[in-house]
Amino acid sequence: MAPTVVTGAASGIGAATCAALREQGREPLTVDLHDADINADLGTPEGRQHAVDAVLARSGGVLDGLALCAGLGPHVPDPARIVSVNYFGTVAVLDGLLPALREGEQPAAVVVSSVSSTHVAWDTNPIATAVESGDEPAARAAVAAGGEYRGQLAYAASKNALTVATRRRVAEWGAAGVRLNTVAPGSVDTPLLRAGMDDPRYGQAIREFVAPVARHGTPAEIAAAILYLLGGNAGFVHGAQLVVDGGVDALFRPTTF
Ligand code: NAI
Repeated sequence: MAPTVVTGAASGIGAATCAALREQGREPLTVDLHDADINADLGTPEGRQHAVDAVLARSGGVLDGLALCAGLGPHVPDPARIVSVNYFGTVAVLDGLLPALREGEQPAAVVVSSVSSTHVAWDTNPIATAVESGDEPAARAAVAAGGEYRGQLAYAASKNALTVATRRRVAEWGAAGVRLNTVAPGSVDTPLLRAGMDDPRYGQAIREFVAPVARHGTPAEIAAAILYLLGGNAGFVHGAQLVVDGGVDALFRPTTF
C-alpha cells in the first residue's frame, strides 16, 4: 500500500488524522514545520517545493491519499502569512502531488477548509483576482490592508479561495481518477482554536458562541470525516464540501446550501 501524505501532522486535526490512519494500518507520510517526516514551511515557495520533492522522493512517486490539514488561524499577527500558508501552501502541495496520486490505488485527496469559507462570497473575496492569476504578492497585499479584523478577513478569504480552487479542479482530477473533496470544520478543540480564544479581538466571540450541538468538535471527529472521504465508501463523492460543525452553518444559512 502506498502512503497517505498528511500536512499539519504535528498538531490538532492533522495529528488526529495520522492516528486514525494508523488505526487502519496505514502509515502516514507526515509534513509540518517541525516533528514530521518532512519538515517544510508551506508559507514559502521554497518550502512548498521542498515538501513536494521530498514526498515524491520518499514515496517513489506513488501515493494512495493526501490530507491537507496545515493551516494558520485568524489570530496570527501577519495576515499575509495566513494567505500564504492556507491558500498558496495548500494548493501548491495539492497540484504538486497529483502526478503521484494518479499512480495510487483508489486515490483521493482531502483539503481541510473551514465553515469560514462561507463568511466571504467569492464575488467580494479580496484575494479572488490575485489567486486566479497565481499572484501571491498581490493576494498578500490585499489582506494586509484589511483593518483591525484583517486576520479574520485573511482567514475567511483564504478558506473561501481554497474551497473554490478545489471545486474548480473536479474535471481535471476526475479525469485523472483521483477524488478530491473538502472538509469544512466548525470550532474544533485544537491549539489553533485555543489561541483564537485567547485573542483580544476574537476571544470573547469564540468563547460565547455555542453551536447547536452545544460543544466544540474534537480533532478525532474531523479526522473521521477525512478518513471517510479518503476511503472506498466515498467512491462517488467528488467535489463535495463536507461540513462538520455541530450545526453552525445550517443555523446561520438555513436557505443557502
Ligand atoms: P493546529 O494549530 O493544531 O495544527 C496546524 C498544524 O499546521 C500545526 O502542526 C502547524 O505546525 C502546521 N503548520 C502551520 N503553518 C505551517 C507551515 N507554514 N508549514 C507547514 N505546516 C504548518 O490547528 P488545527 O486546528 O488542527 O487546524 C488544522 C486545519 O483545520 C487548519 O487548516 C485550520 O484552518 C482548519 N480548521 C480548524 C478549525 C478549528 O476550530 N480548530 C476550524 C476550521 C478549520
